[in-house]
Amino acid sequence: MYSRIIGTGSYLPERILTNTDLEQIVDTSDEWIRTRTGIEKRHVANDGETTCDLAEKASRAAIDAADIDVKNIDLIIVATTTPDVIFPSTACLLQQRLNIHGCPAFDIQAVCTGFIYALSVVDQFIRNSSAKCALVVGSETLTRILDWEDRSTCVLFGDGAGAVILEASETPGILSSHIHADGEYQELLKVPAGISSDYDLVKAGKAFIKMQGNEVFKVAVNTLGRIVDETLMANEMNKEDIDWLVPHQANTRIISATAKKLDMSMDKVVLTVDQHGNTSAASVPLALDVAIKDGRIKRNDTLLLEAFGGGFTWGSVLMKY
Ligand code: COA
Repeated sequence: MYSRIIGTGSYLPERILTNTDLEQIVDTSDEWIRTRTGIEKRHVANDGETTCDLAEKASRAAIDAADIDVKNIDLIIVATTTPDVIFPSTACLLQQRLNIHGCPAFDIQAVCTGFIYALSVVDQFIRNSSAKCALVVGSETLTRILDWEDRSTCVLFGDGAGAVILEASETPGILSSHIHADGEYQELLKVPAGISSDYDLVKAGKAFIKMQGNEVFKVAVNTLGRIVDETLMANEMNKEDIDWLVPHQANTRIISATAKKLDMSMDKVVLTVDQHGNTSAASVPLALDVAIKDGRIKRNDTLLLEAFGGGFTWGSVLMKY
């Protein structure tokens, strides 16, 4: 039994922040941001607009695309680092909004790799017949934890949500998933405050992303190169067997390095970082939805999804669409 995607959806907040807008906020330039990251603009949630609001809109779009009754959904997972509240989980809040009752619903926190982790978990549920129809969402309001005085981070991130419905199927879907973590690297990318440590920063509204960008960049490029090898080897596939690379959208230069590793031309890579910035756990399902809806990704294409993020965490999913 395979987990197969039967519908995708996404949502981006209406408010847009361009690089030129950022020039008014910090000492930066459109040229610097474009050259170093590939980002042109990002979406920012309005005051009061929450991660669950974005997740609900993306989920409803995925449910429509899958053309299913919500009553069929028997598992809900939301990948997020920016939940609405400490508890209940955003997955439970979403479950209530969708008027679904009784099925398991939980969040996964693996920062930018969250959606890949969630797909990997869902695949286990479906393969062992514990679920038949799952809703998996990546949703973030990451701009809420940005320091708008720190030009090295505030230009990089944006808000958004992507969702997929996966169904148990005899037709091939997810072929393999590979997830990893190494907490040794926690200092390079973190929000150094939370509920049980440095809560004063949270109370003061100063729990912000801190990143040593240069170091993160180097580890990301090497690690993503290794996950490509691991995924191909596990499936006894060659580079040319991959039709589409759907990468985490952090930086065009990191994505190009992975494409190069696959000897893949950039027109076989789904790129949304220019329009969305880094939306963390939402970036892969957002990119997937964009390329499915515009007709680039077609049924039976072989897709390699990959991501890297805080923790560090990293992972990949190889699938037939
Ligand atoms: N505008 C203008 N200048 C900026 C700037 C900005 N927004 N941000 C940093 N700079 C400056 C730095 O202060 C530094 O100046 P200096 O040389 O006078 O000290 C210079 O640009 C170079 O900084 P550096 O950090 O070495 O740049 P970089 O080439 O490594 O690019 C990143 C910075 C953040 C774009 C890059 O490191 C990166 O993408 N890293 C990975 C980040 C990532 O993907 N994180 C999420 C993983 S999920």
